[in-house]
Amino acid sequence: MLPEQRLLNQNTSNSANNSSALDANQLASLQQSVADYSSLQLAWASGYLAAKSEQGQNAQIAPVAAAVAAKTLTILYASQTGNAKGVAGQLEKSAKEAGITVVLKNIADFKAKALKNETHLLIVASTNGEGEPPDDAIEFHEFLLGKKAPKLPNLSYSVLALGDSSYEFFCQTGKEFDERLQVLGAKQVTPRVDCDVDYDSDAENWTLSIVESLKDELTQSDAPLATVIDLPTAGAVSQYSKQNPYAAEFSLSQKITGRDSAKDVRHIEIDLGDSGLTYQVGDALGVWFENDANLVAELVAALSLTGEEKVKLKVDGAAQVLTLTDALTTQLEITQTAPAFIEFWAKISGNKELAAIAADKNSAREYAGQHQVIDVVKAAKTEIDAQFFIEALRKITPRLYSIASAQSEVEDEVHLTVGVVSYDANDKTRTGGASGFLCQRLEEGQNVRVFVEHNDNFRLPQSDETPVIMIGPGTGVAPFRAFMQEREARDATGDNWMFFGDQTFTQDFLYQVEWQNYLKSGLLTRMDVAFSRDQAEKVYVQDRLKEQASEVFAWLERGAHLYICGDANRMAKDVHQTLNEIIQEHGKLSAEQAEDYLKSLRSNKRYQKDVY
Ligand SMILES: Cc1cc2nc3c(=O)[nH]c(=O)nc-3n(C[C@H](O)[C@H](O)[C@H](O)COP(=O)(O)OP(=O)(O)OC[C@H]3O[C@@H](n4cnc5c(N)ncnc54)[C@H](O)[C@@H]3O)c2cc1C
Ligand SMILES: NC(=O)c1ccc[n+]([C@@H]2O[C@H](COP(=O)([O-])OP(=O)(O)OC[C@H]3O[C@@H](n4cnc5c(N)ncnc54)[C@H](OP(=O)(O)O)[C@@H]3O)[C@@H](O)[C@H]2O)c1
Ligand SMILES: Cc1cc2nc3c(=O)[nH]c(=O)nc-3n(C[C@H](O)[C@H](O)[C@H](O)COP(=O)(O)O)c2cc1C
Repeated sequence: MLPEQRLLNQNTSNSANNSSALDANQLASLQQSVADYSSLQLAWASGYLAAKSEQGQNAQIAPVAAAVAAKTLTILYASQTGNAKGVAGQLEKSAKEAGITVVLKNIADFKAKALKNETHLLIVASTNGEGEPPDDAIEFHEFLLGKKAPKLPNLSYSVLALGDSSYEFFCQTGKEFDERLQVLGAKQVTPRVDCDVDYDSDAENWTLSIVESLKDELTQSDAPLATVIDLPTAGAVSQYSKQNPYAAEFSLSQKITGRDSAKDVRHIEIDLGDSGLTYQVGDALGVWFENDANLVAELVAALSLTGEEKVKLKVDGAAQVLTLTDALTTQLEITQTAPAFIEFWAKISGNKELAAIAADKNSAREYAGQHQVIDVVKAAKTEIDAQFFIEALRKITPRLYSIASAQSEVEDEVHLTVGVVSYDANDKTRTGGASGFLCQRLEEGQNVRVFVEHNDNFRLPQSDETPVIMIGPGTGVAPFRAFMQEREARDATGDNWMFFGDQTFTQDFLYQVEWQNYLKSGLLTRMDVAFSRDQAEKVYVQDRLKEQASEVFAWLERGAHLYICGDANRMAKDVHQTLNEIIQEHGKLSAEQAEDYLKSLRSNKRYQKDVY
């Protein structure tokens, strides 16, 4: 049932005539009428309708509804991969439990112009790209930071920013929202909190504090708040989630790069059994992992500890006592490090070189990107108490993998394409935590804790006739395998054009046979490949795009949707630049106009990225 229908059924259920919900025409007419309403106005209308159903057609209810409306708290989330959305959901729950009337919205669904009508606003925002807002927040961000943003003297607000301190522009989007709201005259209720990747406890504390701060002000009313307003929340919540993952069977792991490849990429199949978990093509799978026992042992030894020391930490929100070895294996990040840990270790060890690195933000970030916790510890050995040590580490966080299958094809399975992160440091081969777990340590038949992370910003076009251009070098191929399965299952007639690239044709052509079969069957209209190391000069997917520039532009002009998946740092930027050049040349536009062309594709959901 649509959320609107649920709401209407609910609100009509107490009325004298509850035999019928709205019919389709009435529903459409109501939807049209409220399309331009702000959150506040929606809340008012909701109160109005509920009171009307209680009191009958002639009831005088406007003053009550107005009192209710003045008490509404609007929560907006700006999220790329679901974390901010999850925190906002928890915030909504806490606020409702405190008796506050809440409207929760994806920031993309919020009319920025209606901001001036809001009185109480909380924003939970992550940062994406290089200090950029998540896709869904681009328009709101542009409006708020632009000249047309209204003065907001009547607004009380607070911002929770999610980010990753290993990025140069830490929590940039949250910072920009916060600073701009202040400039526009809004009143900050509690200071912004900037959360790192292990955001759980900071987010929980901020939630508690903001709900406590707003509770009295937002619940001072005799009106029956909770019964009057229960607006739809964002998305249905499934039984399994990031906090409550499903223990799925790891059913197949197959290396799909050749014996002589420089890379180890696996095709992985996971059985979702009777979990009831569902996904759409474009979604990602979240995977919880355990650290390598050998690495944990090496770390414990480097710390001159035994591993049997007891340490206290929060597990699933409750304080627990574990051995140091168990804590390092199951609860804490040891394959990634962060500038804060380098600073901590420099202080503890008194090591001057580390202190110099820690003192310079850029050096610390670069060093953290190339060293694991063990490398930092070994760079300056020193004695430390086990409890003190673990308190300096970040909590383990699950990794996301683009889903490489369609349920229309594989039913209860989910497929992934995982590249093992592996490099040499300190004369040892260092391996990524989750990719090492999935590809090297987990055995077929064992369980792996997973959840589905929905991603409405990476979806096939609604019409099966719309052409698609897919650009996915390396593991970026994953979601496009899923797209093809789905297009086949739907008998979609739209053209499909795939650009794939990797190091060599013989060793790294991921899913080669499947692509060739799709070409043979005609489902795949075109495929262009760029094997970078098969000749003296590097050839990349963007070179293939350039070679086909007029055709690429022609596809865009006839409505093609454009997708990029894979490396965010270099590939996605270079491909974007190439697309700009293609549009300049073939659309006879300036660089700026070509950028606007791409922007408009993006806001029409015709240019979508799944990059990492
Ligand atoms: C939405 C999304 C979709 C994704 N889809 C996929 C996918 O389909 N397939 C896939 O394989 N991955 C995918 N990823 C990436 C994936 O989530 C993990 O980031 C990746 O597997 C690495 O995690 P890890 O735990 O193995 O490595 P970590 O333990 O997180 O280690 C990675 C760290 O190792 C360090 N490092 C890496 N390489 C080097 C090097 N050469 N030298 C020195 N240090 C280095 C860096 O500091 C890096 O942060 C996706 C990510 C996102 C956000
Ligand atoms: N955030 C993380 O922790 C994390 C972890 C794992 C992977 N990743 C990212 O995921 C990406 C996917 O890894 P992968 O090994 O499957 O593929 P990849 O490294 O992206 O390589 C795929 C192909 O892209 C080429 N390439 C390199 N630079 C390019 C550019 N600027 N433009 C276009 N193509 C370019 C490579 O060529 P050459 O190699 O010959 O130059 C190779 O042929 C990695 O690049 C990495 O950035 C991130
Ligand atoms: C491709 C990519 C780019 C990112 N860029 C930044 C950044 O510039 N600054 C930052 O603080 N965090 C950055 N992050 C980290 C995210 O903000 C962080 O993981 C956050 O918890 C994600 O929340 P979300 O799932 O709601 O989007 C980036 C993450 C990814 C995957």
